[in-house]
Amino acid sequence: MNQSGEANSYLYLFLEPIREFLEDDEVSEVLVNGPDQVYVERHGRLQETPVKFVSEPALRAAAGNVAKSVGRMLTDEQPRLDARLPDGSRVHAVIPPLARCGTVIAIRKFKKEKLSMASLIEFGSLSADCAELLSTIVKVHKNVMVSGATSSGKTSVLNVLSEAIPGDERILVLEDASELQLQQPHTVYFETRRPDKNGKGEVSIRDLLHSSLRLRPDRLVIGEIRGGEALDLLQALNTGHAGSMSTIHANNPLDCLYRIETCALLSGFDIPLTALRSQVASAIDAVVHTARLPDGSRKITHISEVLELENGNYRLRHLRRFVNRGRDGDGKMTGEFVGGGELPGFFEDARTFGFPLREEIFRQG
Ligand SMILES: Nc1ncnc2c1ncn2[C@@H]1O[C@H](COP(=O)(O)OP(=O)(O)OP(=O)(O)O)[C@@H](O)[C@H]1O
Ligand SMILES: [Mg+2]
Repeated sequence: MNQSGEANSYLYLFLEPIREFLEDDEVSEVLVNGPDQVYVERHGRLQETPVKFVSEPALRAAAGNVAKSVGRMLTDEQPRLDARLPDGSRVHAVIPPLARCGTVIAIRKFKKEKLSMASLIEFGSLSADCAELLSTIVKVHKNVMVSGATSSGKTSVLNVLSEAIPGDERILVLEDASELQLQQPHTVYFETRRPDKNGKGEVSIRDLLHSSLRLRPDRLVIGEIRGGEALDLLQALNTGHAGSMSTIHANNPLDCLYRIETCALLSGFDIPLTALRSQVASAIDAVVHTARLPDGSRKITHISEVLELENGNYRLRHLRRFVNRGRDGDGKMTGEFVGGGELPGFFEDARTFGFPLREEIFRQG
């Protein structure tokens, strides 16, 4: 066994109590809340398991080893950890006293099989009409923001949207922790770097964005917008990087626009709100909102076009949305995807680009 192989088996030795879940393809998340409580997510639903760690020191050692495997430490000074397991699974850990029940670890399992547009249709996360609309939005170079709550499926949708990018374009992907896997051959991936223990060497999404603008992108795909990089992105989009896409945490499509605004203000630049709003409204062409429904299923609940401001306020045109009809006998959420009754502003553009849209897609439900 080579050196890194030995290091890996050492790492998994410490994670032994939860190893069965790490190896179980049906489990998508493993959540450890101190030594005595382990939950897993299966098919979108959380379940408590009987598994326990021997003691808090044993659990802490497991977290410490994950930290060590990525060259970091979990200490009083650095009590929080972002890391990845060798298989690509994403780990976040917080140790006591910040975490009051003992060491807390959340593992988002890395899925080798990425979801495709076809599988999202099969799962009922969107309809074939929605898929056609999304694919056209990407092909006609509209800028898209995918919004939704934590774990609602934003990154998966971003990955799926990228399927529609033509294979001859140069795509730059910027992420905090690499999750996206695009199919296009001319894709260049970048990952941020956290500061070292002396607080030095950090490379943020914002820094990567500055570099990427000098690297001749046709499209920018940014894993997630969380802070001041929103302002740089708005400026990039407004100065000709059409067809770019990203995700953001938000509760509904309108909230998505407010969240971009709030993030842009975190850049520290003092921009008048009306100026900022008009930048948001002109940079973002469409919002794709995702949600995790109470039965654990994920849906694209809205595909909305961002219109011009009216009296300084945002306006959206919901092109397609999911109408919830409650649960069926098996507890599954039912409902349908319906049009909003209006054609999008890019309807003619789409035709000009050679991707004509069918009017039925927008027919009111
Ligand atoms: N349409 C879907 N149907 C079933 N499972 C899905 C669907 N979309 C995503 N998932 C699963 O849900 C989990 C969360 O997905 P994803 O990482 O895309 O969400 P996210 O909103 O980006 O999460 P975060 O807020 O942590 O960034 C993953 O395990 C993913 O495989
Ligand atoms: Mg995500």
